[in-house]
Parts: sequence; C-alpha cells; structure tokens
Amino acid sequence: MSALSQRPAGAVVGTAVPHEAAALHVTGLALYTDDLVGRTKDVLHAWPVQVMHAHARVTALRTDPALAVPGVVRVLTGADVPGVNDAGVKHDEPLFPDEVMFYGHAVCWVLGETLEAARLGAEAVEVEVEPLPALVTVREAIEAEAFQGGQPRLERGDVEQALTASAHVFSGEIEFAGQEHFYLETHCALALVDENGQVFVQSSTQHPSETQEIVAHVLGLTSSEVTVQCLRMGGGFGGKEMQPHGLAAIAALGARLTGRPVRLRLNRSQDITMTGKRHGFHARWQVGFDDEGRLTALDATLTSDGGWSLDLSEPVLARALCHIDNAYWIPAVRVNGRIARTNKTSQTAFRGFGGPQGMLVIEDILGRCAPTLGIDPHELRRRNFYAVGQETPYGQPVRQADRLLRTWDQVLDTGDFAARTAEVAAFNAGSLHVKRALAITPVKFGISFNFTAFNQGGALVHVYKDGSVLITHGGTEMGQGLHTKMLQVAATALGVPLSRVRLAPTRTDKVPNTSATAASSGADLNGGAVKNACEQILARLSQVAAEQLHVPAADVRFSGGVVRGLAPGGPTVPWEDVVRLAYFSRVQLWAAGYYRTEGLHWDSAAMRGEPFKYFAHGVAAAEVEVDGFTGAYRVRRVDIVHDVGDSLSPLVDIGQVEGGFVQGVGWLTLEDLRWEDREGPNRGRISTQSASTYKLPSFSEMPEDFRVSLLESAHEEGAVFGSKAVGEPPLMLAFSVREALRQAAAAFGPAGTAVDLASPATPEAVFWAVEAARSGEGAHLRDGGEQPPQPTGPPIRPTSERVLSES
Ligand code: MTE
Ligand code: MOS
Repeated sequence: MSALSQRPAGAVVGTAVPHEAAALHVTGLALYTDDLVGRTKDVLHAWPVQVMHAHARVTALRTDPALAVPGVVRVLTGADVPGVNDAGVKHDEPLFPDEVMFYGHAVCWVLGETLEAARLGAEAVEVEVEPLPALVTVREAIEAEAFQGGQPRLERGDVEQALTASAHVFSGEIEFAGQEHFYLETHCALALVDENGQVFVQSSTQHPSETQEIVAHVLGLTSSEVTVQCLRMGGGFGGKEMQPHGLAAIAALGARLTGRPVRLRLNRSQDITMTGKRHGFHARWQVGFDDEGRLTALDATLTSDGGWSLDLSEPVLARALCHIDNAYWIPAVRVNGRIARTNKTSQTAFRGFGGPQGMLVIEDILGRCAPTLGIDPHELRRRNFYAVGQETPYGQPVRQADRLLRTWDQVLDTGDFAARTAEVAAFNAGSLHVKRALAITPVKFGISFNFTAFNQGGALVHVYKDGSVLITHGGTEMGQGLHTKMLQVAATALGVPLSRVRLAPTRTDKVPNTSATAASSGADLNGGAVKNACEQILARLSQVAAEQLHVPAADVRFSGGVVRGLAPGGPTVPWEDVVRLAYFSRVQLWAAGYYRTEGLHWDSAAMRGEPFKYFAHGVAAAEVEVDGFTGAYRVRRVDIVHDVGDSLSPLVDIGQVEGGFVQGVGWLTLEDLRWEDREGPNRGRISTQSASTYKLPSFSEMPEDFRVSLLESAHEEGAVFGSKAVGEPPLMLAFSVREALRQAAAAFGPAGTAVDLASPATPEAVFWAVEAARSGEGAHLRDGGEQPPQPTGPPIRPTSERVLSES
C-alpha cells in the first residue's frame, strides 16, 4: 500500500457524512455569487447587445441612443479594452467581436443602475450588419471543409490488413446531439475595484486561476493585481470550465471604467443562446470482427461540432479518441479526429469531456452489429473486454481489467440478469404492442487531465492556537461534494474530529496557479495537496508531542483529537494542548501543501503515452419498456455497481453516481437540442431556449427501481486514501438505457433484427426505430466484407501544441 493511499485507523474518510453545505442548500442560506449583489453597495448591472444573425459583419455600432435611456451609465465596446480583446486562451475569441459568429453573439454590453435600465439601453443600441453565409450543421461544415484546430490521428497496427482479414466487416455512420448544461445557477460574475486599482472578481467558475488570467489580460493587468473567488456554483458540469472568463472580464472592465461594482448574470435564455454546450459529433466507421465476434479492427473518423471558436474543442476531441475503445480490446485501430467550425455557440466541456462521445461510437457499433453477428449484445460486449496486460490504442496498459470483470459479474449476479432476461423474453412473447428489454454496458474512463501539466494541486492548511483548523484548496465546489471530501481528508490526515475543521471558499490569492476543477480530478489533486500540508504540520507537531510523551517523534500518533505514543495504555495529550505548546515553542502551525500526479506522460502530436493515472470502472444494467404505438418508454429498473476505489465519502459518491447516470440518460434519451438550420432569418437560432422546450430529466424519469452500489475491496494505490475519482464516469453508465431501448425496439421485429437508433433516443426516435424493426428494414449496416476497405478521414495534421487548457 502506498503512503498516499494508506488509511489510518479511525479515518474520517470513508464515513457517510452529508454534503458539507446540505443544510445551507435546503434552507436557502447558501450564498451563490449573485446573492452577493444585495450585500454590495452601488452595483451596476450588465446586459448584452445580442445580434440575431448566424454570421454577419458589424458595419455600424451606435451606442449613443443607449446613453439617452434613463439609468444607463455606460456602454462597453471593444474600444474600451485596455489589454487584449479576447475571452479565451487561444486568441480566437474576441470579447467584443466585429464579426457576429453565431445567432445571439453579444457585440457590446450596457451598464445600468438597474437591470431593467441596462436591458432598455441594450435595446436602444443600434447595430448594423452585413449578413454573411453561415454553416449551421456539422454536415454543412464537413461539406464545406470548414475545420478548426488540429486533426489528431490515433493509430495502432495495420487497419487495412486487419479489415481485409476479418470474417465480418461492417460500416456505418451516426450523428448525435450535444447537450445543454442547464446548471440551476446561470453564469454570474460580480467585480469590484479595490484600493490601488486591484480587481476582485467573484465568479461562478470552475477555473478561478484561468478566470484571473483572462481578466488580467483583458484589463492589461498582471495576475497579482486580480483576485478571483468562487464561493460555490449551482452546478458547473464543465460549462463553467472556460465560459465564465469572458463574462468575468466584462464585469471587471465595467468596474474598472466606472469605479463601481458590476454584476453580470445571464438569464436562462441568454445563458442558453450565448454559452457553449456539449459537442455533438458525426462519426463514420468501418469495423471488423472475427468468426467468434471478436473485434479485429476499427477505422473511424470523428468530426465534432466545435461551434464558432476552439475553446476546449481540441482536448475534448483528444479525450473522445482516447475513449473510443471504452472497455474493449481492438487490435488494429485508426481514428481520425477533426473539429468542424460552425456558426453556433462555442462548444465546450461537459461531464465526460468527449469521453462519452467516443464511447457512444463503439457502443453504437456493438449494439447495431450484435444481431447481425447472431450474438447477444451482452455476450458480444463481454467477449471483447480487455484482458490484463493488453494496452489501449494509445499505449497505456489496462492494469485493472480484472476489476471491470468483477464489476460486470456483480451486476449480472445482484441484478439477476439471467433470470430477468428470461422474464423479458417471456413477457415479449405474450405482448404484441409493448416490449421490454434488459441491457448491460460497461464503463472504463481514464482519470487525469490528458494535458500533463494540469495534474497538480495546491492547498493551504491553517491550525489556529485554539486547535481549530481552516483549510483552503485549489478546487471549486459545484455540488459534487469536493469540499466535503477535503474536510474529511484534512480531519483524517490531522487525526482530529471532522467538527474541528472548517473550509474557506476558493480564492486565487490563497492558492495560486490552480487547475480547473475538472476531469473528475478535484479530490485526487486537491486531496493530495491537503494531505501533504497536514503532514508537514504533523511532522512539526510530532516533535513537540514527543517531548511531552517521552517517545520518539516517529512513534507519535494523532487520532480522534488525541495524541499518543505507540504503546497501548501509554500517556495521551489532547490535540489542543499539543497545538498550544507548539505555538509557545514557536513552531509554525500552518502549511502550504502541494501534489503532483506521478507517472504521467502524453505526446499529444503522436497521441501516445500514459495520460491517465488509473481507470475508473462501472457497469449498469437497465430494463426498459417501450410502447409500440407511441415510442414512449419507461425505465423499469437499473442496477449499477461503480468503482470509486475506497470511497472517501460514500454518500457523496452514491449521489455522484446517481446524478451522473441520470444526466447521461438525459443526454441520450431526452434532451433534444435543436438549432434552426433552414434558410431564413432564424437560421442558426436555438429553438430550445428554455425548460419548456428543452426536456431535462426530472423525478418522473428516475428509474422506477434504482439500485446503486459501490464496488467493494477496490483500494486504489495511486490516489489519496485509496480512493478513485467519481465525477464524470457514471454519466456513461447511461448507455445501458440507450442499448435497452434499441433492444426493445428490435423486439417488435423478427428475431435477429438490427436497429439504428437516433441519439437522443426520444420517444419519437424510438417510435421510428420500432417502425423500422416492424417493417423488417433493419439497420443501415453495409457489409463491406468483400470490398476493399475505404480509407477514411483527412490527411494527418499534428494536434495544436497550444493546448493550454483541457481535461
Ligand atoms: N456534480 C454536481 N452536483 N454538479 C456539477 O456541476 N460536475 C461534474 C462532476 N459532478 C458536477 C458534478 C463534472 S463535469 C466534473 S469534471 C466533476 O464533478 C468535477 O468535480 P471533481 O473533480 O471534484 O469530481
Ligand atoms: Mo468536467 S466536463 O471535466 O468539468
């Protein structure tokens, strides 16, 4: 067991405690950034001037009429920017653009004494534009060869030869939708100018350090002159990894120019029309199987819909390529990736960060091909699992392949898979218009930022003279329970009760140069840093206690607020006494902690290396029932076993698994993001701009019988106190529902019917799949066995080296 992973007796990690702010959340006392407005004097409100064209050149911008509106204080335009007019790190994202790149793009901002004054001022601003041709769909962009960023290629073995030698070769394509984050709290920033021109920005951001950097470069300041604080977020889900920066910069610019605090909060329709979403993808593929149904080769081209600027599209694409294998050994692989440039919001991180998109491709392939191969889908999946010793296409050994198998077997067992499969068959035999299906799918998800430099964390731990402890760390809280885990880590590492430790909000002047709280790595990185800080303090306190206890310092133990030597029944000293004594002996009672994940390397141009510290695993079995007249369905039962290592905080982890799964079900079956792609004035407009038209999962979509458990005996050597990351991987357990819907639709046709299923698999999409199955049409699989394989994809161009931010 490693020093990092070992748990002391009486550890506070591993106990089931509620979320640290649960009481505040449910009583409404928790403060979010916008709640600070009422506590701040003389706040100005910002409103965007959005231009409703998918693509246009701004030929005139007249702001004077806005200044005539009562209560309007100032209009912010590009001419006001003292530093760099860019909202991102790639310099392809003008903060005040003179070319409108998507429907709803903001070209300037109005500051008003009230929100209403700012809104009326924005209405009064006159913008003249010259419309330009726009690309709205990913297919249009492919057709026009409109791509942006690098075009990575992941390759292993000789794909042509492997396909030629395959007993079965199929090819197909799929286009699937993105997803709106729909965090309950929309984007928000509140900026103030301190004495001496320093800027303080409160922002709902997953990446305070990068928000700080962008605010600094827009204002022409140094990072030391800008402080960013994030109290907490009402959900981020990746949507606040990159997108808050420009908004924070607008608020900060307004504060600089007016000397007054500026609040910028997007309302829901502004948030949906202006900020990035999960990338939708288009994929073309060719796959080979041997006679036993074992994968032999995969040749695919993935084209993501990047929207108007790069944002995080390159790292998202890299993660998609690195997860196209999911849990399966594919000897020969060639995957080309490219990013379409479309006139849409700039698509960004969303829970799973491209991983779900890559995995959808292989799960779709297996689900479509299984009937044609004459193999049950669960058997086809199981047969293709990695074995220990095999490597992913990018060359990382799959060290815990046996653990995935154990997880799979546990779901088969506790989920009564065999018996229920028989029940489903019996039900279907007796039911003409309603069919059921039971599907099981695995998840293998790599943990760490692909971009190696991001795999570091920092923390600041203060022990005060009275023995109370205050911790700060580089991670942000968005509901995922990171702060709860960090409190537990500190209490465990210091050997004090949880009640002794308090946590202060995330600020860049407490812990600098932090990574985004993303890639599910928050607990790994910041937990490592908190633990490190605590250990520095204990090393000093051990010297003090050793003198008191008359034992060697190495034998001093801290547990439950009591300090003792190794001998049972020996003398003890209360924690508070040791702390007080240390203070009077002039021993430092606080420490800055640091952690870097060891053993990672990644060559982003060659797409090779070991980018991940470990893989997280999970398996889900879902049973659905489909109505053949309407395509409406119910999720009858879901069984999940998920691998979080030795859980740091079981209630938090179960919540993450449940929430992630349901969010994945939303993406795959309900949330139907629609852009107007017909010619006309509305071209490029998002028609699903609110909860009335964009269907989110709610209680009614929860599985009727939902059984989630954490894999036992799952100690992880490579992470803090033996745990594993949990935030994103469970989202991909939702493939079980999509695959069950596919199988249920197939049950309306003759045995062996293969089914194409659109994504999202809304009731409408399921209805059409049922219709196709009934008519015996089957999936649009081309059996390319006799033909020479078609080379796919563009020529290789190395991935941009300027990847500064990613997960
Ligand atoms: N859970 C809640 N409740 N709210 C969120 O916004 N974001 C998810 C996941 N779980 C999110 C969440 C995403 S996208 C990530 S990357 C992780 O939490 C980030 O937190 P972690 O690194 O602490 O797991
Ligand atoms: Mo999560 S998509 O890495 O913020």
